[in-house]
Amino acid sequence: MPTKIVLGLQHGDEGKGRVVDDLVETWADVIVRFQGGGNAGHTVYDREGNKFVTHNLPVGVLNKHKINFIAKGCVVNIKDLAEEIDNFNVSKDQLKISSLCPIIEPTHILRDKLKYQGRLGTTARGIGPAYSDFYARDSILLRDLVSNSEECFNKIEKNFYDFQTQCSRNNVDGDFINNGFVFYNDWTSNFKSNVEKVVKYVINDENYIPKLYAENKNILLEGAQGSGLSINSNNYPDVTSSNPSVGSAMNATGLNHNQIDEVIGVIKSYKTKVGSGNFPSLITEGPERILAEVGQEFGATTGRPRKCGWLDLDEVISAVNLNGVDHICLIKTDVMTHIEEPYYYYQNKKNKTPRIKSVELNDTGFKNLLAIIRDTTEVKQISFTTGPKRGEIVWDNL
Ligand code: IMP
Repeated sequence: MPTKIVLGLQHGDEGKGRVVDDLVETWADVIVRFQGGGNAGHTVYDREGNKFVTHNLPVGVLNKHKINFIAKGCVVNIKDLAEEIDNFNVSKDQLKISSLCPIIEPTHILRDKLKYQGRLGTTARGIGPAYSDFYARDSILLRDLVSNSEECFNKIEKNFYDFQTQCSRNNVDGDFINNGFVFYNDWTSNFKSNVEKVVKYVINDENYIPKLYAENKNILLEGAQGSGLSINSNNYPDVTSSNPSVGSAMNATGLNHNQIDEVIGVIKSYKTKVGSGNFPSLITEGPERILAEVGQEFGATTGRPRKCGWLDLDEVISAVNLNGVDHICLIKTDVMTHIEEPYYYYQNKKNKTPRIKSVELNDTGFKNLLAIIRDTTEVKQISFTTGPKRGEIVWDNL
């Protein structure tokens, strides 16, 4: 079984990072991010409870002996990536990055702040504008930085000054324009050294992952965000600008559908969401606060409080069907033990379920929840976590 993919089946923040981390420890040789960028925040607690958060890098960088790959479906902010590489002290053996990744320019971040952060609640990391330039075929790719970084710098600078001029013409707030200069100067101040740091890891090999597959390496594809945030979902425009699905992983890695051997979907036993958009199972008082406080529901990238609601099985079932999910990993049920009257949504209706007293297979409430998930989604396997730390996960023990 050489390829597993871990996907979020809700609105991101399901806990994919800790599931990936467990598989890094026990199984994977190669860990691949295939979409998104620094909008993701994958949180991992080691066995001692130390917390780590990765944004651009795959979670596999926490282990010095694994290979990590940032595939061409990802957009890359070289400044943030260079800092993250330093923070995790990532060696050349540990990381490869596709030369076909488009870069996020400072102007993308400013455009995101000006136009989309307020309207859609984006993470303001420049994700949408970077992907829109890519699809318009205006992007700078990492391979351009490798071949002529000076030319890239000139293009980045021109794009920035054109944007600032547009802002002045359109009477954009003076503070925004002034802060734009400060931000741009900071972003470009270490441009050369950031380029040098990042290009060391860049490889020009479209078949990198298929070759590792042929060598029988255990390949773990690490999704970011979740199905409800897919650019192709009917939640548009309250979505991100990439597609966190099996299909998108194939495009980004060069693996075909026969080479994706196990699809693991991650869900929380309730639901959280940041940003705007439809949220039918939203809880507006009472249990909402308990879930937010006990579950520490604050965005790992932006620190924003996450809205909380009941588990929505309708969206989970759609994501299971779309991706052919074999195996669900259920997260944070320990948080649900604090809720006296738990509910879930199914077929657009709110349903009561017995109280969960503990995350153990002999607990009536927990057993009932697992049975509901298995019967409605028809997945073959269900694993679950018992706490937040590495190792506190019961794999497919049903
Ligand atoms: P963007 O990806 O920054 O453009 O944000 C678009 C929407 O996706 C916003 O509602 C964000 O809050 C949400 N989003 C993006 N990345 C994540 C994530 O990793 N977890 C949860 N929500 C996310």
